[in-house]
Formats: sequence, C-alpha cells, structure tokens
Amino acid sequence: MKLNCTRHRTWLVASLWVVAVAAAACAPDATQLILSPRLGEQLAALEAGNEVVAAVPTEAPTLADLAPDAVVAGLPEDFAAALAAAQPANGEQIALARGCIGCHALDPNAAMTGPTWYHVGDTAVSRVPGESPALYLYASIVNPGEFVVPAYPNNIMPANYAEQLSLEELADLVAYLLEQNAANGS
Ligand code: HEC
Repeated sequence: MKLNCTRHRTWLVASLWVVAVAAAACAPDATQLILSPRLGEQLAALEAGNEVVAAVPTEAPTLADLAPDAVVAGLPEDFAAALAAAQPANGEQIALARGCIGCHALDPNAAMTGPTWYHVGDTAVSRVPGESPALYLYASIVNPGEFVVPAYPNNIMPANYAEQLSLEELADLVAYLLEQNAANGS
C-alpha cells in the first residue's frame, strides 16, 4: 500500500512536468507581440484560439516601385512636357547657381537648414498621399509653404523660384532631384 502511494505521487509529479513544459512551449512569444501595432487584433486571435501571424513591417514605396506614368501623374501639362525633355545634369548646375545647396545637402548626415536631398526621389513618393513624386517636388519648389516637411521651419525656403526660373530650369531641377534615389545608387 505504501509502495503504491509513492508510485502514484511519482506519476503525478511527472505528469505535472509534462503539462508545465507543454504550456511553456505553447505560450506566445511576447517579444514578437509587444511592439506590434496589431497587438489588440493578435491578442483577440489568440483568445479565440486562432493562429497569430506576426506583423511584417511595411516598407515605404520607392521610386522604383512606381510605373513611369505614376511618377509624373498630376503635373500641369506644360511642365510634364518640359520634364520629359529635362536634363538632370543642368538641374545640378542650377541647384548650385541658385543657392539651393546652401540649405540642402546630398549627405544624409549634414545638418542643414533644409531637409537632405539624399534619396529625395524616394522620399517624394510618399510625402503627400495622392501626390506623385514629380508633382510633389515641383510643388515643393514653386510653393514651399504648401507642404512643410515635418521638423523644418516654414517661410525659410524662398517662395519666388517660380518667377526666377524658367519652366525648363524647374523641370531640370525636378529631374535632378528624382535621380536622387536608392535604385539609382545616389
Ligand atoms: C534658405 C534655405 C533654403 C533654400 C535656399 C532652398 N531651400 Fe528648399 N527647403 C528649405 C526648407 C527649410 C525646407 C523644409 C520646409 C518646407 O517644406 O518648406 C525645404 C524643402 C525643400 C524640398 C522638399 C524636400 C523634402 O524632403 O520633402 C525641396 C524639394 C526643396 N526644398 C527644393 C529646393 C530647391 C530646388 C531649391 C533651389 C532652387 C531650394 N530648395 C532652396 C530651405 C531652403
């Protein structure tokens, strides 16, 4: 009888271990869930006994993700025609001659008055939802107050480039800025 009892206890302890180990293995990995913007949704799925799929961070689209038409969508007709014939190398010279580079640098780490032009062709894709990158860059030059880049001051960038520069020069500038993208290696 005594022997029997000990055997029972051994079995009980052993089965408790099995249960504990199984529970630990099934517990959700908290590190995967904790930073998820879908945490609420994932916890609800867990509670309902459904499979929890870890959220995949969505990367911002780049210029290379867009079809050629989408790059220039919404441009005024005359500007679209000028852009189609634009010379990016001229744009670089204009940026130098007109002092743009006094406030903008290609170096992503240079502290300047204006935002960096490093990969600005990619940045322009998602700055203003619904605005194509070419339209965004064009609007940023001719009307800088229309959208003010977060963490940068308004009314610092000169607002009269539309009067100072020809349509062709503006198009050259936009073509040059569009060239600053990851797929281009610049
Ligand atoms: C005196 C400084 C200054 C000069 C000169 C200047 N900018 Fe700017 N620029 C800024 C500032 C500040 C911003 C951010 C605030 C805003 O969005 O208006 C900006 C924003 C921009 C943006 C938007 C960038 C982004 O990341 O979304 C573009 C494009 C741009 N400038 C192009 C130009 C061009 C082209 C010239 C020359 C023809 C020029 N800038 C000259 C200060 C300047």
